[in-house]
Amino acid sequence: MRRSFTPVGVLLVLALFSHVPRLIKGSSPCKRANSAAIRPHSVSITEFGAVGDGVTLNTKAFQNAIFYLNSFADKGGAKLFVPAGQWLTGSFDLISHLTLWLDKDAVILGSTNSDDWPVVDPLPSYGRGRELPGKRHRSLIYGRNLTDVVITGDNGTIDGQGSNWWNWFHTKTLNYTRPHLVELMNSSGIVISNLTFINSPFWTIHPVYCSQVIVQNVTIRAPLDSPNTDGIDPDSSDDVCIEDCYISTGDDLIAIKSGWDEYGISYARPCRNIIIRRLVGQTRTSAGIAIGSEMSGGVSEVHAENIQFYNSNTGIRIKTSPGRGGYVRDIYISNITLTDVKIAIRFTGHYGEHPDEHYDPEALPTVERITIEDIAGDNIQYAGILEGIEGDSFLNICLSNITLNITSKSPWNCSYIQGYSDSVSPETCEPLRESISPYHYSDCYNLSSHLLNSSNQNRGTWFLSW
Ligand SMILES: *[C@@H]1O[C@H](CO)[C@@H](O)[C@H](O)[C@H]1NC(C)=O
Ligand SMILES: *[C@@H]1O[C@H](CO)[C@@H](O)[C@H](O)[C@H]1NC(C)=O
Ligand SMILES: *[C@@H]1O[C@H](CO)[C@@H](O)[C@H](O)[C@H]1NC(C)=O
Ligand SMILES: *[C@@H]1O[C@H](CO)[C@@H](O)[C@H](O)[C@H]1NC(C)=O
Ligand SMILES: *[C@@H]1O[C@H](CO)[C@@H](O)[C@H](O)[C@H]1NC(C)=O
Ligand SMILES: *[C@@H]1O[C@H](CO)[C@@H](O)[C@H](O)[C@H]1NC(C)=O
Ligand SMILES: *[C@@H]1O[C@H](CO)[C@@H](O)[C@H](O)[C@H]1NC(C)=O
Ligand SMILES: *[C@@H]1O[C@H](CO)[C@@H](O)[C@H](O)[C@H]1NC(C)=O
Ligand SMILES: *[C@@H]1O[C@H](CO)[C@@H](O)[C@H](O)[C@H]1NC(C)=O
Ligand SMILES: *[C@@H]1O[C@H](CO)[C@@H](O)[C@H](O)[C@H]1NC(C)=O
Ligand SMILES: *[C@@H]1O[C@H](CO)[C@@H](O)[C@H](O)[C@H]1NC(C)=O
Ligand SMILES: *[C@@H]1O[C@H](CO)[C@@H](O)[C@H](O)[C@H]1NC(C)=O
Repeated sequence: MRRSFTPVGVLLVLALFSHVPRLIKGSSPCKRANSAAIRPHSVSITEFGAVGDGVTLNTKAFQNAIFYLNSFADKGGAKLFVPAGQWLTGSFDLISHLTLWLDKDAVILGSTNSDDWPVVDPLPSYGRGRELPGKRHRSLIYGRNLTDVVITGDNGTIDGQGSNWWNWFHTKTLNYTRPHLVELMNSSGIVISNLTFINSPFWTIHPVYCSQVIVQNVTIRAPLDSPNTDGIDPDSSDDVCIEDCYISTGDDLIAIKSGWDEYGISYARPCRNIIIRRLVGQTRTSAGIAIGSEMSGGVSEVHAENIQFYNSNTGIRIKTSPGRGGYVRDIYISNITLTDVKIAIRFTGHYGEHPDEHYDPEALPTVERITIEDIAGDNIQYAGILEGIEGDSFLNICLSNITLNITSKSPWNCSYIQGYSDSVSPETCEPLRESISPYHYSDCYNLSSHLLNSSNQNRGTWFLSW
């Protein structure tokens, strides 16, 4: 006879899990490589003729200031100071060894004219713009091939003024894919902190082909019904730390990605070692933490904890499809509180959405070793809608210590998945009903499996300490 609750099993699981050094819990786990960039040189944007009246277009002032500061790149770098005021601008480019500092009550406003957002090539891992074939508008704040870039301040605001873009999307009058608010491409040593980001035209913060990225203590807001205004989307990037953030937007709060179908498969740049902790947020249409739907370069070692989602459609979601290829593996999510959330956990194996007709329907994604534990939920409609792919089951899905207060009659609906569970209420679906026993510990992903990997211990010294 199978039971979902096995006291001995539970005790073992709890004992074993609790002695594990908690990777994402130490005193200062998301550490910067080079301690707080103190820039020996600083200029104010006003020295370059910028006018903070909310009307004057300051794109040239930003470009000239940054061009000037480039001469300090090999002298410890420089700081561009943006004082209180409303600084309207089109898209501009960052440089290495730069701190962009927004003082209290400084607001950088994105131009509402699409001509001020130039068009650039699509990402190679997407093969085309995400929403339209061809090129895409460049983000308001853009950086490529950079190192040591800090975007910070005293809670200044970067406002994308996205409503025109949302209207062009709704009326189908866009010519190219909408721009992000901030995109950093092929860069490393990035810190984005102590700021507020609002009303992005599209995804808000998009690090792509990056490593060593810290996003800390930021607020991200967009209307709950604004289209595709994701919060933070680490994409084909490694060593990303997101902590102490509040995000309330019209799409996924955090979406971890790695390229789209045949383009993502051939570009083959995974997203790996992503830490998310102390996040609070809401999304009426989408998920708090999503993996996918573009995951063709692979996603692994995502560790998320101490998170609260409320008034949301979904808590945790994995989205994929035949044609994606790639993998989602070694995911550890714990201590999440859900309040008024329709679906606590959702896996979607047939998300669809392909870049073109040339994807390979035989390219099936691998989804395995997903551990979710210590989840409490109040006013939840569905505990889990877990839909794998026929002939390509999602394996070693491990759920433990999950207590949800459910409003629907059938809380779980599972297909093509396999795994184990312990202390889950309401009782899980049949494929997960076997208890996690010592026999299964090596099947379930846990933090000691991460730490035991010596290559991770070496990598860990960059920003993990315990
Ligand atoms: C990334 O930047 C490095 C130099 O910083 C360059 O060699 C490489 O080609 C760049 N790759 C892409 C995709 O931009
Ligand atoms: C980044 O590097 C790539 C590859 O070397 C190069 O093609 C591109 O022009 C560089 N872009 C910038 C903005 O430096
Ligand atoms: C968060 O940012 C605010 C200003 O935006 C600052 O006052 C506060 O000290 C920061 N907190 C942390 C933990 O960095
Ligand atoms: C920063 O300002 C926003 C409003 O612009 C506010 O909601 C947020 O709480 C502030 N953050 C901090 C850390 O003070
Ligand atoms: C699309 O292109 C047309 C023709 O160049 C132009 O009039 C229109 O403003 C463009 N739309 C957007 C949203 O940029
Ligand atoms: C955020 O602001 C606080 C307070 O000024 C400061 O102590 C902290 O170092 C800042 N964090 C980052 C990552 O810039
Ligand atoms: C769980 O997360 C909450 C924040 O959401 C935090 O206050 C609490 O200390 C965490 N619990 C543990 C055991 O870490
Ligand atoms: C179970 O999870 C809850 C959070 O939802 C936590 O407070 C509690 O300590 C966990 N129980 C055990 C035995 O770890
Ligand atoms: C959910 O839990 C709350 C208390 O946490 C309780 O008042 C409420 O009746 C519960 N609802 C259901 C449907 O069990
Ligand atoms: C479970 O989901 C499948 C589709 O994935 C649906 O056809 C079926 O009706 C659902 N069953 C229940 C009991 O909700
Ligand atoms: C964690 O995983 C490793 C290898 O995957 C396994 O050897 C170990 O027993 C597991 N530990 C726990 C506490 O589950
Ligand atoms: C250890 O990490 C490396 C990447 O750094 C990965 O290729 C390898 O598969 C991992 N080994 C195990 C046993 O997880």
